[in-house]
Amino acid sequence: MTNLLTYQVYEGVAVVSIDSPPVNALGIDVRQSIVEGFEQASTNADVHAIILACSGRTFFAGADIREFGTPAKPPILPEVIALIESSPKLTIAALHGTPLGGGLETALACHYRIAIAGTRMGLPEVKLGLLPGAGGTQKLPRLVGVPAALEIITSGRQIKASEALELGIIDRVCAGDDLLAEAINYARELVDQNAPRTLVLERNEKTAEHQGQTEIYDTFRAKNARRFRGFKSVENIIKAVQLAADLPYVQGLKRERELFTELQQSRDSLAQRHVFFAERESSKVPDIPKTTPVRPLQTVGIIGAGTMGGGIAMNFLNAGIPVTLLEQKQEALDQGIDVIRNNYQRSVKAGRMTKEVLEARLGLINPSLNYADLSSVDLIIEAVFETMEIKKAVFSSIDAVAKQGCILASNTSYLDLNEIASATSRPQDVIGLHFFSPANVMNLLEVVRGEHSDSDVINSGMRLAKTIGKTPVLSRVGWGFIANRVMKVRSFQTDNLILQGINPEIIDKVIYDYGFAMGPVAMKDLVGLDVLGRESKERTVESVLVEMERLGQKKNGGYYDYDQNRQKTLSAIAMEVIRNIAQEKGIEPVAADEEEILARLLYPIINEGAKVLDEGIALRSSDIDIACIKGYNWPVYKGGPMFWANSIGLKKVLEKLREFEQRFGSAFTPSPYLVRLVKDGKEF
Ligand code: 3HC
Ligand code: NAI
Repeated sequence: MTNLLTYQVYEGVAVVSIDSPPVNALGIDVRQSIVEGFEQASTNADVHAIILACSGRTFFAGADIREFGTPAKPPILPEVIALIESSPKLTIAALHGTPLGGGLETALACHYRIAIAGTRMGLPEVKLGLLPGAGGTQKLPRLVGVPAALEIITSGRQIKASEALELGIIDRVCAGDDLLAEAINYARELVDQNAPRTLVLERNEKTAEHQGQTEIYDTFRAKNARRFRGFKSVENIIKAVQLAADLPYVQGLKRERELFTELQQSRDSLAQRHVFFAERESSKVPDIPKTTPVRPLQTVGIIGAGTMGGGIAMNFLNAGIPVTLLEQKQEALDQGIDVIRNNYQRSVKAGRMTKEVLEARLGLINPSLNYADLSSVDLIIEAVFETMEIKKAVFSSIDAVAKQGCILASNTSYLDLNEIASATSRPQDVIGLHFFSPANVMNLLEVVRGEHSDSDVINSGMRLAKTIGKTPVLSRVGWGFIANRVMKVRSFQTDNLILQGINPEIIDKVIYDYGFAMGPVAMKDLVGLDVLGRESKERTVESVLVEMERLGQKKNGGYYDYDQNRQKTLSAIAMEVIRNIAQEKGIEPVAADEEEILARLLYPIINEGAKVLDEGIALRSSDIDIACIKGYNWPVYKGGPMFWANSIGLKKVLEKLREFEQRFGSAFTPSPYLVRLVKDGKEF
């Protein structure tokens, strides 16, 4: 017996229990242990029922993702599942934690499923660029019907035990919290009743009504076209679910495997698997062990109820943490709270929130015009105007009232955090908490480590990100930190391309086709040309457009004109402004195809990322990937700029940068770090 398996028989009921921390992923040892347990139980004449369970945090949380890309060692998961299904005994899966992916597929091999309340199950393979490849696409539709299966598998969402019971994925929810005892009782009940031993694969009453249909899939595709754009796995999932309705199980299963293998070998899935691990890695700080203390976080103060302050406040309200929101004037305070209320009201209208929850969240706000009200909070986040003098004055006021041990944070986008900290008597308590707009939506939180920040303050910053559902990325102090700094170069190159006569629509198309939701020119119009050019004294296309009151989508259009439905057409006025400014600056037109436009826009980001690493601003290249994915919606199936660079080949990237440097100047000068990597034959 391997040490992962505990095998016990309780008066005719065998319990095959696996323990493989942290999440009982179905790696080779786990698979072998299941086989071993089932072989013992199936051949024991005294055993009438077998319970498959796990100890530790969770029932199997899926296939072992670390094994993907390595040669498969038998027994592979489909073989284990077939073995469970061939058992002559009555089989029951006892679920707790997060039975996901291959874990849920293993449970679906049993005749019955019981789960403890609080269990959250699902088929999240889509998030890894995959589909459920061990029968999930063939079995779930047989249990819940085609429409529900399409929704569940393409979203990859986690389903609570109560919903799973309603849908028919499980058969019973435990009344108490002793899963094993209840599973054993359930097994005895079923044996006593001589309950039917129907396998999910034998059922087709739920799929029969959609057999031979195509419309349901086309409608589903069309309805979700925007959300699914670029994700190859979704198309394979839809095909596989259709096969569940159209083909006998065995044939469907064979095709499912082919569709799975195709995805598993794809670059997109490799990228998404990279992102899965990168996201977990980003919360780890090598010199700050997990055992480092965390400061309490019961109450928060936020200074500035503008665009960011309001959004930041919502994160804490959503987590049930009271917020003291401080402004200079009553009017600004009222306005800030109105925006928060309106945001919540939109959720209520959309049916995502009840009125009671809305009132409860708003009830957690303590509006204030007085710094003394911040004297008891555990964390203060400053989100006032981006001006050093103002920020220093605010930090000095905070210093005068904040209690000892309070964490003092700035949401500054570009300013020197160390200088801000110097306005206090306690720079060890100061960090940056850099949120991304809209702060209640975007999942990135850059935690900025000041020169004097204490380890427990940093650790608390990393932890609080999790409390409010964000992914933390640690950054050292430097202009723009990580995400803004690397993405800013795209904006700079966009301006250059436009002045060189490249059609803005083509620029937007190239970036949209790459997988971003929007191109950089359309993005400028959305943010507002007045906001973008605020600090610039130079005469630019944008400053002229602003002079003409063309502020972007919000007023008179910008680069584009917008109709009532926000449909855009390139503006003839803007094109003329572009031509005039190019002429004034003596910029010659340049021809570039789409491939070159893409390289000119995105390779400098890779180069800037290399500089960020070289300077020690970011801890690791995968943190830059996460920052761009979570902060700027970089398409997840490209893995972020640094992963993408590795997949192109750094040598090729370097050669292109050198060519562009020759043609267009020092903005493309390769980072010495990138040069070193190529010389040493290494990757990011
Ligand atoms: N394979 C390998 N390692 C895994 C894993 C998996 N399926 N799931 C989690 N881990 C690892 C994590 O990398 C992490 O490792 P670390 O401590 O070294 O960083 C550790 O387990 C703990 O994970 P989390 O930090 O994410 O712990 P949480 O408690 O926050 O979340 C979880 C637990 C909900 C299970 C989450 O880890 C998760 O969503 N895991 C992935 C689940 C999944 O996608 N399953 C499907 C896999 S594909 C599949 O099954 C194919 C099949 O259809 C054939
Ligand atoms: P904003 O102009 O919308 O809000 C700033 C608010 O601070 C205003 O309501 C103002 O009344 C208030 N304020 C100014 N001085 C104050 C003081 N002394 N005491 C109390 N309140 C004061 O600005 P926004 O966009 O919210 O930016 C705030 C900070 O967040 C800036 O540092 C900015 O760089 C940063 N940031 C902005 C992002 C964005 O996309 N807008 C993204 C990430 C960070």
